Amino acid sequence: MTFQPTIHPLDASLAPNDLAAFWMPFSANRSFKQRPRLVVGAEGMHYLTGEGRRVIDGAAGLWCCNAGHCREPIVKAIQGQAARLDYAPSFQFSHPEAFTLAARLAALAPGDLDHVFFANSGSEAVDTALKIALAYWQARGRGSKTRLIGRERGYHGVGFGGISVGGIVTNRKAFGTLLTGVDHLPHTYDRDRQAFSRGEPDWGAHLADELERIVALHDASTIAAVIVEPVAGSTGVLPPPKGYLQRLRAICDKHDILLIFDEVITGFGRLGTAFAAERYGVVPDLMTFAKGVTSGTAPMGGVIARAPIHDAFMQGPEHTIELFHGYTYSAHPLACAAGLATLDVYRDEGLFGRAAELEAAFADAVHGLKGLSNVLDIRTVGLAAGVDLAPKAEGPGRRGYDAMVAAFHDHDMMLRVAGDTLALSPPLIVTEGQIGELVEKLGKTIQAVA
Ligand SMILES: Cc1ncc(COP(=O)(O)O)c(C=O)c1O
Repeated sequence: MTFQPTIHPLDASLAPNDLAAFWMPFSANRSFKQRPRLVVGAEGMHYLTGEGRRVIDGAAGLWCCNAGHCREPIVKAIQGQAARLDYAPSFQFSHPEAFTLAARLAALAPGDLDHVFFANSGSEAVDTALKIALAYWQARGRGSKTRLIGRERGYHGVGFGGISVGGIVTNRKAFGTLLTGVDHLPHTYDRDRQAFSRGEPDWGAHLADELERIVALHDASTIAAVIVEPVAGSTGVLPPPKGYLQRLRAICDKHDILLIFDEVITGFGRLGTAFAAERYGVVPDLMTFAKGVTSGTAPMGGVIARAPIHDAFMQGPEHTIELFHGYTYSAHPLACAAGLATLDVYRDEGLFGRAAELEAAFADAVHGLKGLSNVLDIRTVGLAAGVDLAPKAEGPGRRGYDAMVAAFHDHDMMLRVAGDTLALSPPLIVTEGQIGELVEKLGKTIQAVA
């Protein structure tokens, strides 16, 4: 597959003349505004800056543009939908594309994950999944099952539910007491035992047994659900130890606890399969998705529920609302059109299989950075990689931040960083040549911040 970008130099008037008003999310606002990193166009594997620089996208935007940028079938579908039906309410009314997309997603998901509830982001998807879990047990007459179990180093977005089950201290500490009744599994990363592993590390499956300890502490009659990312993405790409997810599933089954996979970044081909559930042969009870569902072109997220969970709600008089939850923009027509076109692109171009085929070459390339200054660990899985750098003397996060800035300004590459971990997650259309380019640029960046 070759792409011939036809990006045109853009009008300088597109540069904003006042950066003060936009309070940027998850950003170092003051540093950014001194030296902005603005992009004004995109195509395929690249962003374009106002000065006409082509910046290779090493992060698929924010882990979302899996089909690459500004893909014509997706653009046309959104344009057509905007002209045909701009908005339709999803409360008590709907439109055909919502049902078509739900059916396509259910068909893509493994097992009896058959029913799709739409939201608009990963955070909303997570909060929706947690609420479905709680309401499910109540619908089953087991309303004492209310505890939610997350995991250290987990990222589940920024809603109060998501930060409560999440395990990133900076995302939690400023926001009060969060949800009550939440406990956490330990994370699965141990550098001494796992450093420089490719794919799933050999060590660590036994950490799933910590769920038994939590059950012994609280009793299963109080626990509604466990939520984990199959591969923890935002805290630096932590693949699950071999056998870990299977063990978690078995313990959940034993104690009647719902298992939720947060597949917001692992969904839609990142690991070489439609969902991580397929790669690991583990069917969760609820699965969240977002990002790749529209390849980042329109906000959308959601939850796919196993049939028995959904069916537990479908009782009582038929005129009554079964789940008091939803968003004004659930199943928004533009997002649905984008989603359908995106799924077509994934299917027609075999992009999930392509990620699987490229996995070994990607791992070889990224692991080639071992030995560069400050590289403490490299992890790869599917088309995702995390490279841990030693922190600078002035404290954690500085070297990572400097790397992200240097990559963009000096090496024409967009990178994602989490603290001092550099993450690569290119669009799935990346060529082997572009993998080489990304890794070469990453190497130069690491040297630049040595
Ligand atoms: C696993 C996971 N869950 C939830 C989210 C939150 O998604 P959003 O930023 O769309 O709310 C993310 C975002 O990166 C994520 O990686």
